[in-house]
Order: sequence, then structure tokens, then C-alpha cells
Amino acid sequence: VSGGELARILAGPPPGVLPLMGGFPDVSTFAAGEIAELTAQVLRDEAAVALQYAPVSGVPAFREYLLDRQAHLQGRRPAPEELLVTSGGMECLTLAAQVLAQPGDTVLVEGPTYLGALLALQAHGVVAEAVPMDDDGLDVDALAQRLADGPRPAMVYVIPDGQNPTGRTLAGPRRQALVDVCREHGVLLVEDVAYRELVHDGEPLPSLWSLAPDGVLQAGTFSKVFTPGVRLGWAVGPADAIARLAEAKGTSDQCASALAQLLVTAYGRGGHFGTRLPDARALYARRWHAFDAALRDAMPDGVTWTVPTAGFFTWLTLPEGLDALALRDRAVEHGVAYVPGVAFHCDDGGTRDMRLSFSQLGEQDLARAAGLLADVVREAA
Ligand SMILES: Cc1ncc(COP(=O)(O)O)c(C=O)c1O
Repeated sequence: VSGGELARILAGPPPGVLPLMGGFPDVSTFAAGEIAELTAQVLRDEAAVALQYAPVSGVPAFREYLLDRQAHLQGRRPAPEELLVTSGGMECLTLAAQVLAQPGDTVLVEGPTYLGALLALQAHGVVAEAVPMDDDGLDVDALAQRLADGPRPAMVYVIPDGQNPTGRTLAGPRRQALVDVCREHGVLLVEDVAYRELVHDGEPLPSLWSLAPDGVLQAGTFSKVFTPGVRLGWAVGPADAIARLAEAKGTSDQCASALAQLLVTAYGRGGHFGTRLPDARALYARRWHAFDAALRDAMPDGVTWTVPTAGFFTWLTLPEGLDALALRDRAVEHGVAYVPGVAFHCDDGGTRDMRLSFSQLGEQDLARAAGLLADVVREAA
């Protein structure tokens, strides 16, 4: 996997090209008005904390808020030593790769999985090995077989809800089976819940951490439900793992932004997640349905795609003989940009696949993007 692909995603496509690329929240979900007011309030009332260095483990008021939030949303309040404030979900994955695995160790991941996680493992000399998925998420039977037959991995990394890049959600019955098999083999499960609060309709399934708090390290983020502008997230999990992450954080950024922590505390305590998140969920649900309908109208036979019930992504598979990486430049010339599937694989998979994000475009632009992409596929077929 290549860091160049990540830089390309973060930079966005050239002007005028419709972006189906990044896992970027829609700008309309950013509560700029509330953020302006609450930032002014925090600076008026708590400047000495907000503008100062913070404890490695997080600002006390934010930690208290996160403990309550975890209890409210996931049905269990972590002990204080089971929580670390992080500078986004990505930092948690980096710290985990750094201290919970040794160079040369293997970590089992979903095939395909989040590019940032693959890069973090690679950067620390850790070998990622894919376990297959199907429409219900990770194939837990295949994982059990691998754990029974092969050498013990340092961790198993999964994204159970609205997975990046496939959009799939791990089915309810598989969740208990997954935590059971990891417990049986004494393997730490790392659960990335980046899209958990963006279930399009209804309630999320139980988190893996809530099923096995002693065996699961959860990486969470405020990027998708608040704004990536704050670079704020959390790690909850076994106290010994959290202590090791905290020690490593002491030599990365030492502490997450105190201003951001107090801002999210004020936003959350003020009830703003409760008022704004339902609108964001409905927005992404509407966009998905519009995009799905447009793909069905436009795409030639033999093209398939996943049906997400959470998050930002669908995973589209081209007919035999077509290569999504080779078609990328032609798609950009046609005015639409996606991420080729090979970017999310640690093996040679994904050549016929592409990740399409429907989070950033309105319904009309999504329909245009689907049409342009279908033209590219038809010309190449
Ligand atoms: C699955 C997954 N995990 C983690 C992250 C990182 O998020 P953050 O912005 O909090 O670092 C992302 C962002 O795209 C993601 O898709």
C-alpha cells in the first residue's frame, strides 16, 4: 500500500472533478454557528485550560463527558483507566501498531480494510494479513479457522459498522462469535467505530467493546459526527493496553488539543449531538438511496456494488477483465474521481474494485457522477 494514495485522497480531486473519493463528511453537517458561539464561551470562561497543555490522558471535563457518553451510547461506563483521549481515530491506530505489536508480527485485518490502518501497520514493520469478508462483514468462520491453524497474530482489526471501504456492517450474530473466538485464542480485538453513529436508519448494533470490554480496544473519532477540524478521538479498552498507548502518546503529540476537548465537551453537554446527528444520518441515507438508484439506472450489466446501511461508502466491482486502477485517469478526464480498490488490500486483491464515497455530493451531482462513471466503464468494456 502506498502513502501517495492517502495524500491524493486528502488533497481531493482537481477542480471541476466530482469527488467520490474521501471519507469526508458533508460540509452542511459542520455546526459552524454553534462552534463559533461555544468557542467564544470556552475562551471567555476557561481560557487558562483551553489554551494550555493538557494531561496526556485528556482534559478531566472531556474525559468525564466521554465516560458518560460511552455509557449512554454503548451501555457501559469505562473505568477511568480504560480511557485515553486521542488526536483522532488515526492516532489510536498508530499507537496500537506501535506498542501492541512488534515489528515482524502479523495483524489480521478485513480484506479489504482502511488504508490508514494498513499504512500504520506497515510503518511499524507489522505484517497485515487479510481475512475474507462477505455481505455480512468479516467471515468469522474463516477467522476462527485461521486462528486455529496459523500462528497467533498480535491483534485482529475490524471496522464493524459501515466499514471503510466496503460500507458493510458486521451482522449481529457474528459479533458475539467474533469476540468469543478472539477471547478463546487470547488475541486482542481492535474495533474501529468511525461510522458507528452514522447508521442511516434505526439503532447501531452492540459494539464489540460493549460485548467484551476486557478483550477489545475501541478506536473512536469525532471526525465524522462533528468535524475532522478538531482531530479528536478516543481509545477505550483494557487498562494495560490503554496505559501503553498513553506512554507512547507522550512521545508523539503529548496531548490532544485542550481547546478542541473543551469545545466538544460544551457541544455534547449542550445536547447538540442529539439535535444534529439525526439530520446527518438522514442526509447520508438520502444520498445513498439517490446514488444507488442512479447506479442502477446507469451501470451496464455485470457491475455490482455493496448496499451500505451506515457510513459513507459503497464498494463497486467491475466485470471480469476490467481494472479499476487503470481506469482512474480516464474517469478523472471524464470528470469523476474514485479510489481504486487495490489501495485497501494488503495482498493482490481489489483490482476490479473501487471505493465510492457518497458523503460529499448532493443528489443531482451523485446522479451525474454515476452517469460519468458508467460511461467510462462502458467505453472500457
Ligand atoms: C475506518 C476509519 N478509521 C479511522 C479514521 C480516522 O479518522 P480520524 O479523522 O479521527 O483520524 C477514518 C477516517 O477516514 C476511517 O475511515
